[in-house]
Amino acid sequence: MSLLSIIDECGGLENVVRILSPDTRIIVEVRDCGLLSAQLVRSSYHSALKQVTYCKDADDVELEQQLLQVGKLIAQQQLAAAQDYLVPVQCPHRPNWHISPPQGLLNDPNGFIYHQGQYHLFYQLYPYACEHKDKHWVHLASKDLVNWQWQSQSLTLTPSDWFDSHGVFSGHAVSQGDELMLFYTGNVRIDEQRDRHTTQCLATSKDGITFTKQGPVISELPPGVTPHCRDPKVIRHNDRWLMLLGAQREDEIGRLAIYQSDDLKKWTFVALCGDELGDFGYMWECPDFFTLNNQDFIVICPQGIKSAYPSHTVPHHNCILKAALDSDGKVQLCDPQPLDHGFDFYAPQSLQTVDGRRVMCAWMGLPDEANHPSVDNGWMHQLTTLRQLSYENGQLIQRPITELQSLRGEIISIPAGEGVFDLQSKAFELKVTMQWGSSLQVHQSESGYCEIRLDKESKKLYLDRSNTLIREGDTVRELSLDTSESVQLHILSDNSSLELFINNGAAVMSARIFTSENATAISRAGQVDIDACWLLHSAASPFVNSQE
Ligand code: FRU
Repeated sequence: MSLLSIIDECGGLENVVRILSPDTRIIVEVRDCGLLSAQLVRSSYHSALKQVTYCKDADDVELEQQLLQVGKLIAQQQLAAAQDYLVPVQCPHRPNWHISPPQGLLNDPNGFIYHQGQYHLFYQLYPYACEHKDKHWVHLASKDLVNWQWQSQSLTLTPSDWFDSHGVFSGHAVSQGDELMLFYTGNVRIDEQRDRHTTQCLATSKDGITFTKQGPVISELPPGVTPHCRDPKVIRHNDRWLMLLGAQREDEIGRLAIYQSDDLKKWTFVALCGDELGDFGYMWECPDFFTLNNQDFIVICPQGIKSAYPSHTVPHHNCILKAALDSDGKVQLCDPQPLDHGFDFYAPQSLQTVDGRRVMCAWMGLPDEANHPSVDNGWMHQLTTLRQLSYENGQLIQRPITELQSLRGEIISIPAGEGVFDLQSKAFELKVTMQWGSSLQVHQSESGYCEIRLDKESKKLYLDRSNTLIREGDTVRELSLDTSESVQLHILSDNSSLELFINNGAAVMSARIFTSENATAISRAGQVDIDACWLLHSAASPFVNSQE
């Protein structure tokens, strides 16, 4: 039976939610089983899953192409259905200059790249609720890395096809001449037990706006790896392409899977890497790779490792490692360090700017969290500030990109000494020098505040959000800074976030901070000198379509 007859029998395309194509089956999930014949319901319908199962016709050479065509039509239906959910909801926690979703749940940044005169940044979105469900890719572009706008229909990739019907998961982009290539993980769940099927997929565009899905480029899992294998990062190495994937070994140990290719289409497995780290968590997500000052680095998000600090209780971590790639494409890893010591920094991606800087963006949020105060208004999570990475005298340095200075507005002069000062805004940039034993409260009102404290005895910096409206996640982060005499902080604040760049970029802490709308004061105890303070303008709205 041809695919078109199957769709007809299932009540037509409007009645089709998704089509799956595992093993020898074609499975059609329908909206309304009333449109199916009684005979079909009796013979092949699963009422709990709302799915009709057919046997694939092994001789149907056109099936693959037809599935792609039908996927395009389902994508159109999904786009139309999502339109009402792309209207941004009002919320006092909505950031002024960070990227947040119009509605629903945002997570990882994806496909961060410079291509044909613009920076492109995509992100994971479930538009319909603050839940981790079938992910879409939203597309933004910018000329200056500060003001971002939706491209075309904003939802570039929807979970419309047999290979990504339960989520167009994370991945990176490659710019090849006039072609922009998006590599991503297709996530599919099969049968009642929701068996996970993962493939690594490709979508391409000639105009940088409209993408055509090409389907899986890697259909099989690497040997000894569970279906937790995802988030392709493609790099050029020794005249060939390498794809790095976050993976989980069958004994539930996180590893890096590496594939190679000459043409970006045919990929062969090279190795599972990372054994030199031993047991380093049960899964590694979202690998990135870059070189700073002749040193190669790999970034991963390991799940289930132990933090050096007892206040860090959640299993999700971010980590940068020194990497050595050999001529076969295998990688040796050493010296794991947190990239960000705050609460909310996950799945980072980086690009190289036109002038050669390494700039990184991450999800300012963590997996498993589904209840922040913004959920009351129907949206959740945001992306971090863009930061520039460098490697100076053997040390990783991270600073906010200089382009952000374009948001600086009024300079605020804050009188010296202790006490409270109302900035009348939560969107500000503040540079301070703090002595050991001092503390600084920000986002302060009568009902709460977030505290930055320097403990003299332990020589630790504490970031404490226990007196805020936080509903889940850790409330304290700590960081040993025993070498510094005093501590310099460069603080970037927005309506529901704080990012602390510590001692000229030697460490960073990113945090979601939810406080009441009037929590606009700061206060100091002990010696805290204000070096500079600006209120920040809003960036251009990321909910405007640049083609309109
Ligand atoms: C990380 C992650 C990725 C996955 C994506 C799905 O936050 O779990 O591994 O591709 O989110 O949205």
